[in-house]
Amino acid sequence: MGIHSRLLPILAVLSLIVASGTVSYTIAQVSEQEARQIFEQLGCTSCHGSIAPSWEEMINLFQDWATRYDSIDQAVVSEVKGVAASSYAQLMQTMASFVGASPDDPGMKKLEEFFLQVFQEAGGAPPPAETTPPAETTPEEQTTPTQQPQPPEEGITFGEAAVIATLIIVVILVLAYVLSRS
Ligand code: HEC
Repeated sequence: MGIHSRLLPILAVLSLIVASGTVSYTIAQVSEQEARQIFEQLGCTSCHGSIAPSWEEMINLFQDWATRYDSIDQAVVSEVKGVAASSYAQLMQTMASFVGASPDDPGMKKLEEFFLQVFQEAGGAPPPAETTPPAETTPEEQTTPTQQPQPPEEGITFGEAAVIATLIIVVILVLAYVLSRS
């Protein structure tokens, strides 16, 4: 096999890797359209839009908070007056209970991820539990005075992880095939 004919399959594998990276990045982001649909389907609009801020108002709120607070937890604790919340995660648990949804509901996880995204994209830092390296803060210091145990934070859902895993397997198979022929 000449050097050029071996270059093509390698390029193919490289583009697959780039493609799978792009796909996994895209599915890790929650679009506003999807988030808003979940918001309406879960029934959050029974309060938000009347007694609580509307969808647009909430997005403006999170963007505004990002300019004034270091973390989303700080913003929630200082700004949300209508309900008691000691952290962003805990606020979202309360909101889930308002519509009778489990805090682990995939839709709730997406909404939680979405508002965090809005906050981060406007320049704010994420909650310490998710991204702060262990060296800076010890998790023991951040005890939340809640009765319920906090559910584990999930970056991506199981379905998304399965898609990523499948793509990785495909890349490995193609690579193995190419290597076995050279
Ligand atoms: C029973 C009424 C009610 C329902 C249902 C409800 N909320 Fe709320 N929500 C509130 C109130 C009241 C506040 C506090 C508003 C304030 O003081 O800023 C709030 C605040 C929030 C905040 C903080 C930002 C803000 O507007 O202050 C988020 C985020 C939020 N809710 C998300 C949700 C989501 C997601 C759902 C659906 C799963 C939901 N809420 C359902 C009443 C409700």
